Amino acid sequence: MSKFPAGFLWGAATAPHQVEGNNHNSDFWQAEAAMPGMERSGDACDSYHRYAEDMRLLADSGCNAYRFGIEWARVEPEPGLVSRAELAHYRRMIDTAIDLGLTPVVTLHHFTNPRWFAAEGGWMGERAVERFLSYAETTAAILDGVPWVCTMNEPNMLAIMTMMARLAASGQQWQSPTVDDGARPVLPSPDPAIGRRLVDAHHAVRDLIRERTGAKVGWTVANQALVARPGGEEKLREVRYVREDLYLEGAKGDDFVGVQSYSSMWVGPDGIEPHPVRPDNTLVGTAYRPDSLGLAVRHTWEVTGGTPVLVTENGIATGDDERRIAYTSAALDGLEAAVADGVDVRGYLHWSLLDNYEWGHWAPTFGLIAVDRETFVRTPKPSLAWLGDLARRNGGR
Ligand code: FCB
Repeated sequence: MSKFPAGFLWGAATAPHQVEGNNHNSDFWQAEAAMPGMERSGDACDSYHRYAEDMRLLADSGCNAYRFGIEWARVEPEPGLVSRAELAHYRRMIDTAIDLGLTPVVTLHHFTNPRWFAAEGGWMGERAVERFLSYAETTAAILDGVPWVCTMNEPNMLAIMTMMARLAASGQQWQSPTVDDGARPVLPSPDPAIGRRLVDAHHAVRDLIRERTGAKVGWTVANQALVARPGGEEKLREVRYVREDLYLEGAKGDDFVGVQSYSSMWVGPDGIEPHPVRPDNTLVGTAYRPDSLGLAVRHTWEVTGGTPVLVTENGIATGDDERRIAYTSAALDGLEAAVADGVDVRGYLHWSLLDNYEWGHWAPTFGLIAVDRETFVRTPKPSLAWLGDLARRNGGR
C-alpha cells in the first residue's frame, strides 16, 4: 500500500541552460568561454527544438509531471526588450505538457542570468529586484493553466555562484559548483547579504505571480542534509543558517517549498567536513546517501513551519542505471516514511529527465534518458520505465 496522497506528482526535472543548447545571451555561456577547465554547453541536448519528444517519453513512461524552466536571457535579450517569439515558444512547451497529461511545474530562474543583467551588477546590482520583477511580469502572461511556479532555483547555490562570479571578476579562480574529480571541496558559505537580496526578489515575484495567475508559488532550496558529529551541534546551527535556513525561512508563507536533495554532509566542531574520495562516491564526488531525501524533507518541514513540500530535485550522478534505481527506491522509502509521519508532500520530481550539461561538465550523468550528443538520439534507460511504473501505482510497491 502506498502512503502517497491522491494526486501526487510523479515526474522529472530539467533546466533550460542544461538541455536547450546555444543559450548565447546568458552569463553562463559567457563564463564557459572564459573559465579554464570548463566544458562548453554548446548544443546541449537540443531540447529547445526537441522538447516535445522529451515530454512524450516522460508521459509514455507513466509519469504525470514535468518541471522545466523559462530562460530569462531568451525572453528579455536586452533590458525591456521582450521577445514575443520566445514567449510563444515557452507557451507551446506548456501546452505540449498539458496535452500530454503532464502537469507543468515551471521555474522562472535556474542559475543563468541575461548577460546584460550580470553586467549591471547581477543580483547585487541596484536594479536587480526591479529587473527580475519586470521579467516575471512579462512571463506571467503565458502561465495560464500552470499550477506550480518556482520563482528561483536553489537561491542558496545561486548566492554561492554570485560570490564566485565576483571573485572571478577580481581575477581569482572560478570553480564549477559540481566538480567531478578529486575530493569534493566544501563550497564557501554564501554571503547572507546576497541571500537577503534573493529573499526580497522571491517575495516580490511570489506576490506578483499569485496576483496574476492561479499558480501555487514557491522556490526550491538546495538541502545538504547536514548532520552534526558529536561536539559539532553548535557549528551545525551556525553553518546551516547561512547555507540553508535563511532561504527556508524565506519560504514561510509560500504555497509550497521545493526540496532538492542528493547527499548528506557531516559537520564537526570546525565546520563541514570535506567528503573524501571513496569508491562508492557518485560521479560528482558526493557520498552515496539516499537517506538524505528523508532528512531534507523533515528539516524543510520543520524550518518552514509546515509549508507543503514538493520534491523538485533528487537523483544521482552515475553511469550505472541499476544504482540509480536502487538509490531512488531507497530515497522514496525515506520520503514515504516522512509522509507517514505527517509531512505534507505533494510530489516527487527526479533530477534529471536527460543526461545533460552539468554546469561545466558532461561526465556526470543524472538522466533517466541518455542523449547522443552528436545525433541527439534519446535512449531511455530502464530507470525511466521503473519510475513510470511507480507513478502508475502512485508509489505502491
Ligand atoms: C542542482 C541544480 C541542477 C543540477 C543538479 C545536479 O544543484 O539545481 O541544475 O545541476 O544540482
